[in-house]
Amino acid sequence: MKSQLNVIILAAGLGTRMKSKRAKVLHRAGGLSLIEHVVRASSAIAPADRTTIVVGHQGEQVRALLAPSGVRFVDQKEQKGTGHALLACRKSLASESGLVVVLYGDCPLLAPSTLSELVRRQTAGKAAATLITTRLDDPTGYGRIIFGDHGKVQAIVEQKDLTPEQLHVREINSGIYCFETRALFANLDALDTNNAHGEFYLTDVAAMLVAEGKRVVAVKADSVDEVLGANTIAEMMHLDAAMRLATAKRLMAAGVTIFRPETCIIDSEVTIGPDTVIEPYVQLLGRTTIGSESRIRSYSVIQNSQLGDNVTVRNGCILDTAEVADNAILGPYAHLRPESRIGDGAHVGNFVETKKTTMGKGSKANHLSYLGDTVIGAGVNIGAGAITCNYDGVHKHLTTIGDGAFIGSDSTLVAPVTIGAGSYVAAGSSITEDVPEGALALGRSRQTTKPGWVAARKAAADAKKGC
Ligand code: UD1
Ligand code: CA
Repeated sequence: MKSQLNVIILAAGLGTRMKSKRAKVLHRAGGLSLIEHVVRASSAIAPADRTTIVVGHQGEQVRALLAPSGVRFVDQKEQKGTGHALLACRKSLASESGLVVVLYGDCPLLAPSTLSELVRRQTAGKAAATLITTRLDDPTGYGRIIFGDHGKVQAIVEQKDLTPEQLHVREINSGIYCFETRALFANLDALDTNNAHGEFYLTDVAAMLVAEGKRVVAVKADSVDEVLGANTIAEMMHLDAAMRLATAKRLMAAGVTIFRPETCIIDSEVTIGPDTVIEPYVQLLGRTTIGSESRIRSYSVIQNSQLGDNVTVRNGCILDTAEVADNAILGPYAHLRPESRIGDGAHVGNFVETKKTTMGKGSKANHLSYLGDTVIGAGVNIGAGAITCNYDGVHKHLTTIGDGAFIGSDSTLVAPVTIGAGSYVAAGSSITEDVPEGALALGRSRQTTKPGWVAARKAAADAKKGC
């Protein structure tokens, strides 16, 4: 007989109070979906193959999101309440002899240490169930813990089922429980829907265990925030702000300066080295990493990108899935699209857009360029307004620019084309053929100058008037 610890996470509900078509657990706070946060926290107490997610609404999306972590899934086809959701796990778990931790997928601030403590208290207390509670100034919406003599848990009563005398109870059910697996599953069949929501409430199991003479223990959470669930968009944004502030504080504790952190949106997976400065109104999203002694100026949005040390990102840059080496300078208003790789000390300046483009060490494109599907060597100068024409209307083609080349302002390089190392492209050229190393390429019509043309035209016009 197996006696290990299992975790069940309920994630099948739509979340009608969200007023959204998207299942609540897929809504994001702090850069991850709610369910991802909960799965991460639970991985501290149970391996993925002992973690079961109950899915229903948009179950396919929830499965796709979490499948890489190796967790298991069961379907709850109709959502008839939290007690009903657990019945979906009966086949796979009811015969187990150990403990089961039950979590709700909409409670993302849960700390791994709280879960370890929950299991420790349950094991030490030899109770049938241990649940985490807290006291809220405004407990509206939460199930309340009703205590009997000597502070013993008697029951959990949902908001809409509270009697007028119970309305003042501020001790709430966090929805974080550890049960003796057998005691839990033995009671699920007896649940009924005689309540305000007409649902099978998991919370009713507490009173059933007490009626059997078993112990239900309440453990107070250290932090109130940690047990907050999100039922509305407003509550979700409250959690989002709390998570982002926690991330900013963690980064600041590690030596990062963040001015006005409440204005910055920093996802929880972002890492930043010491002595880097983040100015107000910056967004750092996804799996972004930034080295040390860099500076990110206001209004830049950086997503899933890797930046080295001593990088300067001036105001208003947008980076998506880009790599930026040490000492590079970007912006203001540079746009680095996916697969942009900017080399050591390179500059990508004002209104320059790069896509699938590698720029070598110390190369510069400082003004008004589009560089797409381009491999640029080291020490290259791209003049103002130079553009790689990478698209022929059907296919994309590569432009290669060798080390030390000089591309004159307002040139168009029509791909596929190779500009040899050390060569020059004259300003305003349209280059359609490869340029060998060290050559000068002029791809424009020769200038014609007509001396005295203005005066001659005036004289001709005056003569016409006179006659
Ligand atoms: C629940 C608790 C309440 C507690 C609160 C804490 C019950 C009856 N009430 O209320 O005591 O204070 O959480 O946040 O448990 N779900 C399913 N299948 C269903 C119904 C729900 O998987 O049929 C999932 C939802 O996706 C959600 C979780 O269970 O992740 C909780 O459901 P929710 O409707 O949010 O419960 P609350 O009303 O918040
Ligand atoms: Ca909830």
